Amino acid sequence: MKHLRLAILAVPVFLATAAFAQNQVATLRNTAPLDQEGEATQIPGIVNTDIRQVRNYPDQPPLIPHKTDNYQVDLNSNKCLTCHSRTAVEVSQAPMISVTHFMNREGQTLGAVSPRRYFCNQCHVVQTNARPLVENEFVDVDKVIDYVKAQQGGAD
Ligand code: HEC
Ligand code: HEC
Repeated sequence: MKHLRLAILAVPVFLATAAFAQNQVATLRNTAPLDQEGEATQIPGIVNTDIRQVRNYPDQPPLIPHKTDNYQVDLNSNKCLTCHSRTAVEVSQAPMISVTHFMNREGQTLGAVSPRRYFCNQCHVVQTNARPLVENEFVDVDKVIDYVKAQQGGAD
């Protein structure tokens, strides 16, 4: 009886192992044998084209189209603002932070960048050229509007 129970318990484990071997599920080690050091996966490159990217909806924080390596943002300094602040853009020719970045919670526009917009990387991110892990099925709102219009046109 004891042996039978053990055998029943072992079945799912065996099946799981078989499925694993069949699907070749990727692990962090890739296919490197346990006793050998595998090749490290490449760190994806950062998109540094300087070309401003489309926003997928009007109030999306725009993506950063340049590298930000070593751009320090802390209590004492903010490297981003050395190019993006109101007074810096004449020299840097970078787009100025928008007026929302001066607003406090109550919607009042302050004289300087609002503390809640100080840590730029909270909302703005660079892009990498990594292969997407899953398919992206996002549909732009313009396409949605066209679709709705076409449907309404068809109903008339
Ligand atoms: C040396 C100047 C410089 C610094 C420092 C800098 N930027 Fe920029 N940034 C630019 C310029 C110039 C552009 C316009 C596109 C381009 O040339 O890359 C830009 C574009 C952007 C955009 C795109 C805006 C849009 O409307 O599409 C974002 C977002 C941005 N930067 C965020 C940041 C953040 C966040 C930091 C700090 C981590 C930063 N930048 C630091 C010069 C700078
Ligand atoms: C809480 C999120 C948040 C933080 C923090 C933030 N931003 Fe933004 N940013 C946004 C959003 C959302 C937009 C687009 C809508 C708008 O203008 O408010 C934007 C727009 C921008 C734009 C484009 C402005 C334009 O008119 O085209 C630039 C440049 C920018 N941000 C730079 C910065 C920099 C530099 C910092 C840090 C000092 C920063 N942002 C901090 C959310 C944020």
